[in-house]
Amino acid sequence: MDLITIEVPLGDRSYRVVVGDGAIGALPELIPARAKRAAVLTQESIGFDVDPGIEYEVFPIGQGEREKTLDTIGSLCSSFARWGLTRSDVVVGVGGGMVTDIAGFAASAYHRGVPVVHVSTTLLGQIDAAVGGKTGVNLPEGKNLVGAYWQPSGVICDTTSLLTLPPREMASGLGEMAKYHFLGGNDLDDMTLAQRVARCVEIKAEVVASDEREGGRRAILNYGHTFGHALEIAGSFDLRHGEAVAVGLIYAAELGLLLGRIDQDRVAEHRRVVADYGLATTIEEGYDADELITLMGRDKKALDGLTFVLDGDDGVEPVAGIDRDLLVAALEAVSS
Ligand code: GLY
Repeated sequence: MDLITIEVPLGDRSYRVVVGDGAIGALPELIPARAKRAAVLTQESIGFDVDPGIEYEVFPIGQGEREKTLDTIGSLCSSFARWGLTRSDVVVGVGGGMVTDIAGFAASAYHRGVPVVHVSTTLLGQIDAAVGGKTGVNLPEGKNLVGAYWQPSGVICDTTSLLTLPPREMASGLGEMAKYHFLGGNDLDDMTLAQRVARCVEIKAEVVASDEREGGRRAILNYGHTFGHALEIAGSFDLRHGEAVAVGLIYAAELGLLLGRIDQDRVAEHRRVVADYGLATTIEEGYDADELITLMGRDKKALDGLTFVLDGDDGVEPVAGIDRDLLVAALEAVSS
């Protein structure tokens, strides 16, 4: 298959995202011309070989969210300093969203900023985390609470790396992909997986270019996420991110229906898309309504109390001041 290249148009910080089977071959083209050395950040389990085409050293990152800390950033930056990485060199993050979030944040901070190129190896990473410049790590107080906007110099989405993804990891990516059907991706149904990845990246690139620092419109990328995050936390992360977002899309659709923003056919379309990806459209029994609503109010994307990103005649947009009774009613609509 031919590779597909999408540009993220950000003026003199514009960059290319190369998508497709064998896209990794384009990595040397994305390495900034003046870089002499590359610090490659990856995890042992990733097992995706890269050759940036210049001298490089691999810096391993530990497994699991608990490694996504400021301590990890500190020790990586110390390792960069000992290796003699300079501001004109490059960091290359090879892995899923956790690796690219860490690589991007370390690159943003080391020497006040060195270029970073992401090689994203998961579906979730390819269609979300690796594109758009959000980087960061967790604090004991919460996920992704410290970070920076640091756009990469290029992104590789080699779709061969998806062939060996564990099924739950793939399902998680598909949940995020379902979201794009309602952000202008009406044409996604008829595409191959690589074409879908490219189309999702294209949609995200357009949104990021219009609102890089989430002053407003970028929040639409969080469609399905307010309820999804609450489910993830209430269920102590039994659900993968995209699995939770998938039900979050149905919840948002039901809320949109209750508010008269969309009709029953549009809700049915949400259910069809999510079910076609083999994902659940309802939540398991045992969730506590009060807890979920409290968690939704705490979501850091909730701009003003209970704000939701909702579908409607003008497309998906943030809607503030949602009544608690409607939140409870929408919850009943997604309960099995
Ligand atoms: N993951 C949402 C965003 O990049 O804005």
